[in-house]
Amino acid sequence: HVAVLDFGSQYTQLIVRRVRELGYFAKLYTLEDFPNIGEPGAIILSGGPKSTSEPDAPDLDFEQLDAFGVPVLGVCYGMQLLNIKFGGSVEASDRREYGPAKLFPVEPAGLYEGLAHDSQVWMSHSDTVQDLADNCTVLARNQHGTPVSLKWGERYFGIQFHPEVTHSHEGTRILHNFLLQAEALEPFRIEDFKEEVIQGIREKVGNKQVVCGVSGGVDSTVLAVLLHEAGANVRAIFVDHGLMRKDEGEEVRNNFHRMGVPIETVDASEMFLRELAGQKEPEKKREIIGNLFIDVFWDSVGDAELLAQGTLYPDVIESASNANSKASKIKTHHNRVDRILELQAQGKVLEPLAELFKDEVRALGTSLGIPQDILNRHPFPGPGLAVRCPGEIDEYRLKIIRECDAIFIGHLKEHGWYDKVWQAYAALVPVKTVGVKGDERSYEWAISLRAVISEDAMTADWVELPYSILRETSHDILNEVDGINRVLYDVSTKPPASIEWE
Ligand code: XMP
Repeated sequence: HVAVLDFGSQYTQLIVRRVRELGYFAKLYTLEDFPNIGEPGAIILSGGPKSTSEPDAPDLDFEQLDAFGVPVLGVCYGMQLLNIKFGGSVEASDRREYGPAKLFPVEPAGLYEGLAHDSQVWMSHSDTVQDLADNCTVLARNQHGTPVSLKWGERYFGIQFHPEVTHSHEGTRILHNFLLQAEALEPFRIEDFKEEVIQGIREKVGNKQVVCGVSGGVDSTVLAVLLHEAGANVRAIFVDHGLMRKDEGEEVRNNFHRMGVPIETVDASEMFLRELAGQKEPEKKREIIGNLFIDVFWDSVGDAELLAQGTLYPDVIESASNANSKASKIKTHHNRVDRILELQAQGKVLEPLAELFKDEVRALGTSLGIPQDILNRHPFPGPGLAVRCPGEIDEYRLKIIRECDAIFIGHLKEHGWYDKVWQAYAALVPVKTVGVKGDERSYEWAISLRAVISEDAMTADWVELPYSILRETSHDILNEVDGINRVLYDVSTKPPASIEWE
């Protein structure tokens, strides 16, 4: 694998992402982890916000680094650190170079094999390399002739710019060229990973009983099938909180039946609706749902010895970096409640997908034989339709949302748009406006349709759906759904809007 050492740059996770996209397994390590980073085939030192001249500048033991005997790439701060380690110097500056620059490789070989002569790269740094070490060669310069890429000896490479951001047009190619220098590096095969994880599950679980919650979503489905495949004594529990979409419970049960994995349904919808009655405040609603969900789930679990969760790698690295920063809390995500943390502390939580990104989970699902229509389902939030029903929730409002959502999704599927968008849904706008229905005055709510594309849900853009789909959807909703006399299409990007309404 490729070990990516985090010196604190906001882009470090992207390096991991890019390496994975190139077909190699990458893992993020903090400096506290070092030197316990397994047996990497290559090491990447990330950028970071500090200056190497600051007294508390992050550092690592160079002898230990060298002892791995594998190619090392220093990015930005990482390159400056390497230059100092090799006896060169770095000039501190409080002026930041931020934005595009041109890259002029000295030779179109090695790291720069096959690269255009003046491709754009993205800079974000204040310090610059000053004196070069004796064993150092310059691999590339910027438009001012300043060295922006160096090589020390045979195994150490440095780049001042950020190859991991898309603004560095050929950044991925540079990373790929670096990885090609690493002879010991094996490409990542999801089948090997599957075998490894199944083996790991068998060792950890033995003949203990494992419980896992399933929602019908991709992650929990892959998790349940994986546990089943590993021959674990697994109970897959589906808590129906009554905030699911139209016929969703039935669909989830059918899907699991198709895959031969038994699931138990706990119908707790009445309880959820009772607790939510009259609640208007978004965070309060989320809290009620989150806590109740865990209570209900745990009640039905009984005395199981292990709990399996479909945590993915982005959650792992996000909480690792959040622990070091004061990221503001925007919404409470409901799989992060304290009680799970307690269980985790007791070593009772199993997270077999915790090293994978979403697309890798899908690939794993494919190799487990899970049908594509299940793997390509849109993400659906834990609190369900509650976050698509601003303000109070009741059975009547949920029914309206379900009907409208089913009509919209039906048309998207019919016209081949379902798989082209990241997520699409209908949300209620509980504001009454005046209209005419069947020669009579109507005074009813509006429904808002939303379809977005996104890579990781952190940012999103609304989709330019064909007018014909919007027209058909609107027509059917206005004719078939009581209580709605107005259909809106949400044209908000995230940020500043979020994907869901609450
Ligand atoms: P927002 O609304 O924050 O949503 O832009 C980003 C993505 O996360 C999903 N989402 C959730 N998923 N539990 C989840 O598992 C939650 O509490 C939750 N809230 C939002 C949302 O559907 C979108 O894909």
